Amino acid sequence: MKEEILNIKNEALAQIMEAKSYAELEDLKILYLGRNGKLNKLIKKIKDVPLEERKEIGLLINESKSSISKLLAEQKISLKQIAREWFDPTIPGIKPAVGHLHLVTQAIEEISRIFEQIGFVKVRYPEVEWDWYAFESLNMPEGHPARDEWETFFVEGPPHPKHGQMVLTPHTSSGQVREMERVAKNKHPDKNIVIRMINVGKCYRRQLDASHVPMFHQFEGLVVDKDISIVHLKGTLDYFVRNFFGKERKTRLRPFHFQFTEPSFEVDVSCGVCKGLGCKLCKSGWLELGGAGMVHPKVLKNGGINPKIYSGFAFGWGVERTYLMKTGLSIPDIRLLYSPQLSFLRQF
Ligand code: FA5
Repeated sequence: MKEEILNIKNEALAQIMEAKSYAELEDLKILYLGRNGKLNKLIKKIKDVPLEERKEIGLLINESKSSISKLLAEQKISLKQIAREWFDPTIPGIKPAVGHLHLVTQAIEEISRIFEQIGFVKVRYPEVEWDWYAFESLNMPEGHPARDEWETFFVEGPPHPKHGQMVLTPHTSSGQVREMERVAKNKHPDKNIVIRMINVGKCYRRQLDASHVPMFHQFEGLVVDKDISIVHLKGTLDYFVRNFFGKERKTRLRPFHFQFTEPSFEVDVSCGVCKGLGCKLCKSGWLELGGAGMVHPKVLKNGGINPKIYSGFAFGWGVERTYLMKTGLSIPDIRLLYSPQLSFLRQF
């Protein structure tokens, strides 16, 4: 039996030395060391060996197994090295597919960064909101015609005893009173209320056409402090427009009406194509950006802030439309931004 073991061992070692691939080495491992391999078959015969020889035979089988395993491992390493020696660095590699952030995400990041640079704090408030925060606290009582413009999605469910019906928020202005409450509640007794909020979030309206999508994004600025005036609003808008659209761009405030600001404005930015002279794109030299105004005293009161001591301004614009204006992209349909067509998104 001793001779048989040594023969198997030598045969195995010779074949392992000759092997040229991983697969061959794996086959040899099964042939010699596998459960039904040549050495294990011999172990089954050990019971027929005279008692005094069994120990020696057992040791010999174990030693043969470990020599074979060791050589198998060594051969695997040397095969790997050979493969490495053949590596040709001039062969072009496989290019990994590199994606990029969605245009709207890029815009949100840029807008947030611009405001954060002048001390605005980025916040996010609920998309599923109570009527109180979306309308009532913003000076739009139930049944008020101003609510119609916000073409709201209502959410089924029992109304909140104090805050009314649940809605999908139609604008980020619903974060105004929430932010005032948060800051007023956490205020140190010896310190003033100071709010510099930039609230970027998803908004929902029952609208769908070439310039409206039912889900879109707005960014809302809110500043509350002592002695805040229209000058601060205009300065902030000019700062944003210069940084987002370019140094030469200007802003213009046009009188408008919102229930939650007084006075209220529409904000225009000078056209980047004709530099404000008037062209086919803008007609008048100006492009409309969104709403703004001085926070209505009733809204401050609803947020727990005394309008006799504090004043503030707010603005709220659509991320998608602002971004399209910046790039000068002539996208005929805003819905394209949310289409699953990668060929469209890959252009940017
Ligand atoms: C408002 O939503 C006010 N909350 C803005 C505001 C905030 C005024 C603070 C004063 C103070 P408006 O409904 O105009 O206003 O919407 C603002 C912007 O959101 C629009 O100019 C547009 O850019 C964008 N927008 C509105 N509806 C849609 C829609 N369905 N799809 C894409 N963008 C939209």
